[in-house]
Amino acid sequence: MKKILLLILSIMALAFSLGSISEEAKSEGEAMFEALGCSSCHGPGGNSTDEDVPSLAGRDAEWIVQQLEQFQSGERQNAIMNAMAPMAEGFEDSIAEYLSTQGIRE
Ligand code: HEC
Repeated sequence: MKKILLLILSIMALAFSLGSISEEAKSEGEAMFEALGCSSCHGPGGNSTDEDVPSLAGRDAEWIVQQLEQFQSGERQNAIMNAMAPMAEGFEDSIAEYLSTQGIRE
């Protein structure tokens, strides 16, 4: 499972590096949020429909990056996110940028 995700990630990373550099961070962030499966828990556009998963839509980009780095380093402990955050490596900023600009749905 992890191998497949890593393969998808590599292909995506390659596609992005081959694509235009002017590709907006936001659309890269959106693509990664989908490709890494973040949206399957945190909901479309970061609007979670699961009471056990926090919504990320409209939250401060800097704060989101900080949380991801803390999950990566283990400073913040959560079994799921300690496994997920390393997969977002290199895309923390674009994912955070994308989420911070998403509207909050009720
Ligand atoms: C299997 C479900 C699942 C997946 C997939 C997942 N998350 Fe999470 N995420 C959670 C849960 C549950 C928490 C709450 C963790 C806690 O209580 O500390 C969380 C917390 C977070 C937080 C901190 C939010 C807060 O309010 O403190 C961020 C940021 C985050 N996730 C980003 C991501 C990103 C980016 C991805 C994709 C790389 C991702 N998550 C994938 C379940 C998931």
